Amino acid sequence: MPFPATRMRRLRRSAPLRGLVRETRLAAGDLILPLFVTHGSDRRELVAAMPGVARLSIEHAVEEAVAAAELGIPAVMLFGIPADKDAEGSGAWDDEGVVQLTTRAIKERMPELLVIPDLCLCEYTSHGHCGILRSDGGAVDNDATLPLLARTAVSQARAGADVIAPSDMMDGRVGAIRAALDEEGFADVPILAYSAKFASAFYGPFREAADSTPASGDRRGYQMDPANGDEALREVLLDVEEGADLVMVKPALPYLDVIRRVKEATRMPVVAYNVSGEYAMVKAAAAAGALDERGTVLEVLTSIRRAGADAVITYHAKDAARWLSEME
Ligand code: PBG
Repeated sequence: MPFPATRMRRLRRSAPLRGLVRETRLAAGDLILPLFVTHGSDRRELVAAMPGVARLSIEHAVEEAVAAAELGIPAVMLFGIPADKDAEGSGAWDDEGVVQLTTRAIKERMPELLVIPDLCLCEYTSHGHCGILRSDGGAVDNDATLPLLARTAVSQARAGADVIAPSDMMDGRVGAIRAALDEEGFADVPILAYSAKFASAFYGPFREAADSTPASGDRRGYQMDPANGDEALREVLLDVEEGADLVMVKPALPYLDVIRRVKEATRMPVVAYNVSGEYAMVKAAAAAGALDERGTVLEVLTSIRRAGADAVITYHAKDAARWLSEME
């Protein structure tokens, strides 16, 4: 035998050896927990397709945020479900809106916990689209939506938001939001742009949770075609040029290649959103006894980090943080 047989298994023989050569680490500090906050008080409405997730009124959302922080999770993301909706989505920039009130309440209770309100109009518009509609009833009016998004960003910053996260996919919104924040004295508030956001079937459970299903049509006129990777890079580069401080790829698991390409092309902080449908699949399979939940979740989150994501937004955040602390 001219060469000794290659023995890849030598470094797999024990937990300490595997730990020594492990390339990717997953920690509670990498996770962001999304919360659905609803108007009213003492409400906790379960979301059928997402076991373990509920729409919470403000005081319960604060409790949940505190529980996350105690597990070492550094950030929560907030989605608001307002009492009233209108054609413009004016609830989004209401200084007393549900997201603004929750942001203030969490920052008061836990100043160290990062609060990242999602910035979009779809939860606030009566038609459920992410921007206002053209007066001819046609498509979303991109340019007329920009000032409304900017106004919402300023209202969220005023409430104490640590990061502004636009998820609407209008062209030019990062620049418009950056300019408005700078003008209003919030030059230090960073923007996490949902840059490569695909028109995905995996958002189904979220739309039930956030009550944001479009009344007619779909979002393919502004969200990306799942078939396009090069275009995702162009989207990301535009957002970086307009002033994005962090960029996002969403969903995560079906787009690991995009996460990797975005990281390599930009070297920006990359956040991946492990979305509602990804969560629902794992929960359903685990409930059916087909998958081990803990092993599956930790493998999924590690894979998203390995692909190049610095942080992961996930509904599994609290469970994952608990499991990770048990493994220490
Ligand atoms: C709103 C928004 C959506 C999600 C996050 N922000 C839904 C959508 O675009 O239809 C999806 C998140 C998830 O599925 O977990 N624009």
